[in-house]
Amino acid sequence: MHASRTRRGSDVLVVGGGIIGLVTAWRAARQGLRTALADPSPGGGAAQVAAGMLAPVTELHYGEEALLDLGLASAARYPQFAEELAEASGGLDIGYRACGTLAVALDADDRLHLRELHALQRRCGLDSEWLTGRECRRLEPMLAPGVRGGLRVDGDHQVDPRRLAAALLAACERAGVEIHRAPAQRLLVTADRASGAVLDEGTELHADQVVLAGGSLSGRLAGVPPQAVAPVRPVKGQVLRLSVPAAYAPFLSRTVRAVVRGSHVYLVPRENGELVIGATSEELGWDTTVTAGGVYELLRDAHELVPGITELPLTETRAGLRPGSPDNAPLLGPTELPGLHLATGHYRNGVLLTPLTGEVMAELLATGELPQIARPFTPRRFSAARQESYA
Ligand code: GLY
Repeated sequence: MHASRTRRGSDVLVVGGGIIGLVTAWRAARQGLRTALADPSPGGGAAQVAAGMLAPVTELHYGEEALLDLGLASAARYPQFAEELAEASGGLDIGYRACGTLAVALDADDRLHLRELHALQRRCGLDSEWLTGRECRRLEPMLAPGVRGGLRVDGDHQVDPRRLAAALLAACERAGVEIHRAPAQRLLVTADRASGAVLDEGTELHADQVVLAGGSLSGRLAGVPPQAVAPVRPVKGQVLRLSVPAAYAPFLSRTVRAVVRGSHVYLVPRENGELVIGATSEELGWDTTVTAGGVYELLRDAHELVPGITELPLTETRAGLRPGSPDNAPLLGPTELPGLHLATGHYRNGVLLTPLTGEVMAELLATGELPQIARPFTPRRFSAARQESYA
């Protein structure tokens, strides 16, 4: 057992140092708030696995118009965000690439699905163009001859999440965020208000406000009262990394994606020759095993889209955990426990929503007001239902 040690208090303590925790801490520090962050491995987490698609238009779903607005607003911030972050991090480039996306169909069912997506995109006033199979192949010659048609979405881009995490960590350090490389074990609550956290080596960190940004682990911090626990679950994604030799370049010029037999597959080509293929979506608790079946399915589906991938070196296989909320939309803002806020539950959209999350959380922390655009995503939308189930 460790003796407890108390550290000087800060205005804000962020628990969790993935990209969401880091962006929140960086933006809070830039608002002039004394900010601390606790994570055993800051800059790690799901961003080390994610492909980095910024795809609010191609990932549009029925009934998710509020999420669409959030995604579009965040995507629109990326160019300036990348510039600000480069400056704040001492020159680190996050690999923002305005490359566009092509969503293709391989059979009649996929084609119908894409036609419906196209109709929905048009109803929402989004920019998306229907292409024949031949037009798709003219754009991306490595596509399979069997591609039946597709949607060209020139506004859905990409960023490199590993470089994003590294830049955010550097920006936090340069902005004076006090980084504790240890897991938070328990929330501190004083007079019915969140007042900090205890780290696993016993240090007590005190803060006026606490932000829980622990990704899929956000619901596991001890000491959080039941009505404030983050309702997140882990959703496993397996991802492959291939490398395109210079002689094969340009292999793909934009992100190519499809729904094959009901599963999403996407190929994200980076300028440095990396080709990321993702992702499975598996509700298996905390398991992060890379399985033969997962790798097989990704390669099989990606091969149907782009047969030439079989020539490329396979350089990495990895699995990560997306933080899924009950409605798969993020949890942003105050909880039922005064002083405790959530910035988690981003599910498939963590990288996309990073700039906007940092902005709205910093505004909340500095002013006490959650900006209008984030209000549909307050954790309190689940409180009533939960209080009934605890009654
Ligand atoms: N946004 C892509 C994924 O979560 O797989």
